[in-house]
This record gives sequence, structure tokens and C-alpha cells, in this order.
Amino acid sequence: MWNRKSCFLLFPRFKLIGKANKFVNKSSFTCCCHKAKVEDRHLFIFGLGYLGKALAVQLVRQGWKVTGTKRTESVEKEILESGVEVIPFDTESSDDWNETLLQKLNLATHLLVCIPANQRGDPLLSKLGLPNLQKHRIRWVGYISSTLVYEASDSMSWIDENAPLAIQTKKASYYIAAEEQWKRWTKDCNIRLMIFRLSALYGPSRSALDTLLRMQSIGWNIKEFFESSSFAGDVMVSRIHQMDACEKIATSMLLEWTMPGNLCIVNLSDNLPCTRAECFDYAFQLLDEDTIKAWRALHKIKGDEDLFTVERSWKEVGKQMRTRITEHKKGKRILNQKLKALFGESLYFPTFFQGLLQVKNDILRRSLSEEP
Ligand SMILES: NC(=O)c1ccc[n+]([C@@H]2O[C@H](COP(=O)([O-])OP(=O)(O)OC[C@H]3O[C@@H](n4cnc5c(N)ncnc54)[C@H](OP(=O)(O)O)[C@@H]3O)[C@@H](O)[C@H]2O)c1
Repeated sequence: MWNRKSCFLLFPRFKLIGKANKFVNKSSFTCCCHKAKVEDRHLFIFGLGYLGKALAVQLVRQGWKVTGTKRTESVEKEILESGVEVIPFDTESSDDWNETLLQKLNLATHLLVCIPANQRGDPLLSKLGLPNLQKHRIRWVGYISSTLVYEASDSMSWIDENAPLAIQTKKASYYIAAEEQWKRWTKDCNIRLMIFRLSALYGPSRSALDTLLRMQSIGWNIKEFFESSSFAGDVMVSRIHQMDACEKIATSMLLEWTMPGNLCIVNLSDNLPCTRAECFDYAFQLLDEDTIKAWRALHKIKGDEDLFTVERSWKEVGKQMRTRITEHKKGKRILNQKLKALFGESLYFPTFFQGLLQVKNDILRRSLSEEP
């Protein structure tokens, strides 16, 4: 039997987590600190979208069994090859639960909900309800909510998990209702519930860098975009990189038995909220010819004869943005103190600087590895 000291000495990837004072296993290895062997863990994910898919692929690599849903039959190559089991499911076109899905739900030990809330709250619970899973083994439910639920702050003050909720705002009210529905369901079933309030999620293929590349490739005027009111460059936004969001959610599942009580709400956010202008300004700085070529190769986009002109105009836009970002900072500065206390201080990408650099390097790496 491993004890905590031997785990730490032999496996440096174990680390001490805040007040919980537990060792977290970041690999598939199992020690006496864990209630169950990794082979026994089966995660069911409603919504294999940007976040769900990345987490699913990561956990399968670590030895978990993972089943997830998508609305369509078409499944990306990455999921097919990963070993994640996919079941088509759409709350809007289903009037009842299908048998295959119910069987898999009964096998799951962990349940994660990544389907966006709508006017009814959670589409799953509000439309179909969750059936009485007689033989279920679920002992942890994660609900991906949003920092949209909070009221924006005009000051520089931080928003923690107890901050006032924006009940009057339409989209916030969707997530607030969904959170309440999951609280009721898990309370009735006596299952632990983690509510993750997710900040703006970015990472490979979904970032300010990708936005600029995409706009440029279809001939949009980037200068006009930066100047438009829809850009709202001065509003303060909190973000988190996809890899960090996945790592913290995975850690919370490993530490399930240390959870304070049956309900825990935590913000998923990095260390540095900033304006969209600051973020786009840095994305703009990262653009170089190699990245543009690599991105175009990846997206099979041809014809870059006006590159020089566009690059020059980008430089002009960059200068303008630097003058705008010092004014009127407002919006949401989401505090991640609780996240770190519960699931570890470290983030792979503590700020958008490291995160966007990773996105750029990922474009270059993928274009080399996927070269014909
Ligand atoms: N991305 C962000 O910046 C951000 C920020 C805060 C909160 N959130 C919330 O966090 C969650 C995960 O985000 P994400 O970026 O991974 O979202 P996403 O990429 O849009 O994925 C959503 C997933 O839900 C599925 N889905 C949507 N409507 C459905 C329905 N009616 N029935 C069944 N499945 C449905 C989608 O199916 P398909 O795969 O078939 O499309 C997809 O798998 C979402 O609830 C999102 O609203 C996101």
C-alpha cells in the first residue's frame, strides 16, 4: 500500500493541494489516497463541444472510460481515434430518453454537463428531466455554468463566488435557473455537485489570434472591426485557457471526496483579466508570416498576395489600440482564489500572454505534423 510520503517521493507529479492537504495524482496511477482505481471511473459528458471534447480525450488517455453526446452523427476524427464513446443526442429533437443512453448513464461514476443553458434553464432537466436512474453509480456531477451570471462591476473590484447575480439579465438568468435545477436534482439524489462558472474559454482554434486570421482570410477590414462598437475593446474580460479548464475539472473529480459539503461553486478563470483590446493587441503582435502560412495551410486557404498591405494596416491598428486600452476599464474581473485553494495554485497559462503564445505554437506545430 502506498502512503502519502512515498507517493510524493516516488512520483514528483503528485502535488500538495492548498488547505485540502491531499496529494493529487495527475497521471493514471492510483494510490491509497484515492477511493477508486482509475479503471473504475467512467465519465459521462453531455455535450462534447469545445470543452467537453478536450476533457474527454485527455481523460481517456489517463485511463478513464468516457462516453459523451453530440447532436449530430458526424464525429471529428480526433474523437473517433481517441476511444471516446459517442452517442447522438439532442434535447430539442428528443421527447424521451433512448435506451443506449440510459444504459451508459447507469454505468457512469461521474457526470459532466456542458450543454448551454437556454430560456428554460438547463435544456436537459427542463425538457426531459433525468429519469430515475435506479442502479446508477454517479457520485459526482459537474455543471458548466458561466461568469455571465455575475453583475458587471464598474470598478476595479474583483468578483468572487459570492458576488451579486445579474438576475435581470436575460442570458444570466438562463444559467442561474440551470444552476438551481441541478442543485435540486443532485440534492434529491444525494450526489455531490460542482458548479464551474466558466470565464471566456480560449485555446487552439478558438482565440483572438484565430479571429484575426479568419477575418484576414475572408478579406474583412480589421481596422473597421477594431473601431466598431461591437468590438467593445475597453470592457474588462476574464478568460481561461482550455487546457487549464480541463485540468482543474479533472482535478476536482480526483479530489471529489475532499469537497466541502455536497455543493461547491467555483470560478474557472486565469490570473489576468484584461480588455479585449489588450488581448487582440497581443494576438496582433504574434501574427507573422509563418503563422499566417501555417494557419492557411491548415485551413486550406489559398492566395496571400495582399499580405503586405494587410500587415501594414494591422500595424496601424495596433498603434491605435494601445491608446484606447488605458481608458475606462470596466466589466468583470473574476477572482480565481477559490479555484487555486481547492485544486492547486498552478496554471499552465496564468495569463493570455502565455495562452496565446501556445495557440500560435500549436498552429505552427500542427501545420508541420499535418503536412501532406
Ligand atoms: N466558450 C465559452 O467562452 C464559455 C464561457 C462561459 C460558459 N460557457 C458554457 O460552457 C459550456 C461548454 O462550453 P463550450 O465552449 O464547450 O460549448 P460548445 O462548444 O458550444 O459545446 C456545447 C455542446 O453542447 C451540445 N448541445 C448544444 N445544445 C444542445 C442540445 N439542445 N441538446 C444536446 N446537446 C446540445 C453541442 O452539441 P454539438 O457538439 O452537436 O454541437 C456541444 O457538444 C456551455 O454551456 C457554454 O455555454 C462557455
